[in-house]
Amino acid sequence: MRESFQSKTGALLALVGSAVGLGNLWRFPYMTSQYGGALFIIIYLLFIIFFSIPLFTAETLIGRRAQTNACEAFNKLSHGKMRWAGSFGMIGCFLVTSYYCVVGGWCINYLFRSVANLLGRGGLSGIESLQTTFVTVSGSLPQWSESVQSVLFTLVFALTCGAIVIIGVKKGIETSCKWIMPILFLLIIFMAIRVMFLPGAMEGMAFLFRPDFSCINGKVVMAAMGQAFFSLSLGSMAVITYGSYMRRDDSIGQISTFTAFSDTIFAVIASVMIIPAVFAMGLEVSQGAGVSFISMPFVFSNIPGGPVLLILFFIGLLFASVSSEISMLESNVAYVMEKLKMSRKGATILVTLTASVFAVLCALSFGPLSHIKILDRNIFDLFDAATANIFFPVTGVLGTILIGWVMKKEHVVAELSRTSSPRPHKTTIKAFYVITKYIIPIMVTAIIINGLISQ
Ligand code: TRP
Repeated sequence: MRESFQSKTGALLALVGSAVGLGNLWRFPYMTSQYGGALFIIIYLLFIIFFSIPLFTAETLIGRRAQTNACEAFNKLSHGKMRWAGSFGMIGCFLVTSYYCVVGGWCINYLFRSVANLLGRGGLSGIESLQTTFVTVSGSLPQWSESVQSVLFTLVFALTCGAIVIIGVKKGIETSCKWIMPILFLLIIFMAIRVMFLPGAMEGMAFLFRPDFSCINGKVVMAAMGQAFFSLSLGSMAVITYGSYMRRDDSIGQISTFTAFSDTIFAVIASVMIIPAVFAMGLEVSQGAGVSFISMPFVFSNIPGGPVLLILFFIGLLFASVSSEISMLESNVAYVMEKLKMSRKGATILVTLTASVFAVLCALSFGPLSHIKILDRNIFDLFDAATANIFFPVTGVLGTILIGWVMKKEHVVAELSRTSSPRPHKTTIKAFYVITKYIIPIMVTAIIINGLISQ
C-alpha cells in the first residue's frame, strides 16, 4: 500500500503548500511586470480557469488511478504506449530543479543582507546595496564579487536541499512550512495594503488592473500560459505524484479547484504588494528577474519594525522555495533510482551535483556569462522560458492525451466520481472531457507555435 494523505485537509495543505512557492512571489510579479500588467493577469486568470483546473484534475486523476511513481504512471495507464512521455516530462522537471536554485540562492542572499541591514553593518546596509545583485538595475554588469556571491548562495541552496533529502528531515520542513506559510500570507496581505498608501503606488495599481488590450501578442499569451503551468507545478510530474497519495474517496475535482484558487489569490496579492512598490520607488517596471527582491527592502524600510518584518518575509520565501525544491529533487531521485538502479543516497547525490552544475551556469548568466544569448535570452531566462513555456505545457498535453485518447472513458469518469462529497455534475464531467480531449491539446500546440514564431 502506498503512502497516502491522512485526511482531506492534509491533502489540501500538501497540495497548496507544494504549489505556492517562488512561482507566486517571484515569477508571477516578474512576468506581470514584463508582459504588460493587467493584460497579462487577465489572460493568466483565463488559463487558470480553462486550462489549469482541468489539467490539475487530470494529473491528480492519473496519479490516483496509477498508484505508482509519476513516470511509471504514464507507462502503466497507457499499457506501455506512452512510456516515453514520463521521461520527457522528467527533462523539464530536471531543468526547473536546477535553475530554481539560483532564485533560492537569492532568497538566502537577501535574508543575510536583511539581517546585516538590521544589525546596521555599513557595507550591506541601505537599499542601494540590496539592489546591486541584479544587472538591469544599474544598467551595467554586477561586480565580480556579486557573481561569486550569487554562485556561492546558489550552491548553498542546492546542497542544503540535497542534504535535506538525504538526511530525511523533509517532513520537518513540511511541518514548519505549515506554520510559516500562513504567516507569510498574512504578511503579504498586510504589506499589500501598506503599499497602496505609498505615494506613486496608484500608478502601479493602474498598471495592474487597467488592461491595454492593444498590447496582446503571441509572446504575452505564451508567457501567461507558461505561468499558469509553472505556478501549479503542472506538467512537471509533481501533481501526478501527489495524486497517487490522494485517498480513494477524496473528490479530486474539488481539491484541484481549491488549490488553483488559493495559489492564484496568493500570486495576485503578491503582485499588489510588489508592482506598485516599484512605481513608488520611481523605477521602471521592466526590472527583469529581480523585481520582487529589489522592491521588498524598499517597502519594508518604509514602515515601523520594517527591518524585522523584512527578515520574516525572506524566511518565508526561503521556506517556500526549499519545500518546492525538495519536492522537485524527490521526483528526479525517484526517476534516477529506477532507471539507473541506484541507491537513494547515490541518486540524490548524482541529481544534486548535476543540477548544481547547471544552476551555476544560470547564476553566472547575470554576470560573466551574460553575453551568451539564445533567442535574446540569457541562460537563466532560457531555462526559465523553456521549462514554463514548452516542457511543462507539452507534458501537460501528453497527460491530456493519456486521459482523453488512451484511457477508457469509464475509468476516467469512475475516478472523477469516486468521492464521498457530492458527485460532480454530468455537465461538469462532460466539460472536463471536452477540455482535456480537444481544447487543451489543440490550444496549447497553437499557442506554443505562435509564441515561438513571434519570439
Ligand atoms: N509551483 C512551484 C512554485 O510556484 C514551482 C514548481 C514548478 C514546482 N514545477 C514544480 C514545484 C515541480 C515542485 C515540483 O514555485
